[in-house]
Amino acid sequence: MAARAPRYTAVAIVLHWAIAVAILFMIPMGLWMHESAEHGDVSARLFSAYQLHKSIGLTVLALSLVRLGWRLMNPPPPMPAHMPGWERFAAVATHWAFYALMIGLPLTGWLYVSAGWSIHDEAPLPVATHWFGLFQVPALFGLNQADLGVREDAAEAALTAHAYLAYAALGLAALHVAAALKHQFFDKDEVLAHMVPGLRAP
Ligand code: HEM
Repeated sequence: MAARAPRYTAVAIVLHWAIAVAILFMIPMGLWMHESAEHGDVSARLFSAYQLHKSIGLTVLALSLVRLGWRLMNPPPPMPAHMPGWERFAAVATHWAFYALMIGLPLTGWLYVSAGWSIHDEAPLPVATHWFGLFQVPALFGLNQADLGVREDAAEAALTAHAYLAYAALGLAALHVAAALKHQFFDKDEVLAHMVPGLRAP
């Protein structure tokens, strides 16, 4: 494992911002897709949006796994000495909860589409996923070959989890941003500067 660096590595910073922007874009997109399908939209535009959502989501999954591997091999910069124990605990817990969400959110989406079952029509929906039109993504656990009852239950459970994890990600992101601003403007320490190139502690 590498020694503790005074700030995050360039790889960690690029992955952090790319994944953050993608997730914040994907949540409203997923909600819009869900509402449109619920209102009977069967347009080609919505179909393309589903494929785009799935492609970006699978990319987020791959980048999150890379990021987790990078994080395990490259310890983050030390926290400021003034931080009390509860705040250190909250920061560490939030960061690991983010990793769980960054992996769990796309995985539950992938599980949903693997079932090939529409929760809107309550009927089989065998639509293949094509990653940015380049190659076909396999169904997880061969779920698309399972009995219809299993596929229905899996689709219901996966999409419910997908939606709850998205709301949890929004809540955690709000907490995370509030903590970052507190460090920058109240504690006036270097925490935010660790992740924002060119920024200095006040
Ligand atoms: C960054 C990762 C992702 C985020 C933040 C995200 C977010 C969301 C959200 C908020 C919804 C609306 C859920 C609802 O209201 O029921 C949704 C729907 C959906 N997501 Fe994702 N998603 C991600 C990754 C994926 C992946 C990887 C797939 C599949 C490979 C996927 C497939 C879907 C599908 C098919 C729907 C629409 C379900 C419906 O018809 O109601 N998502 N997503």
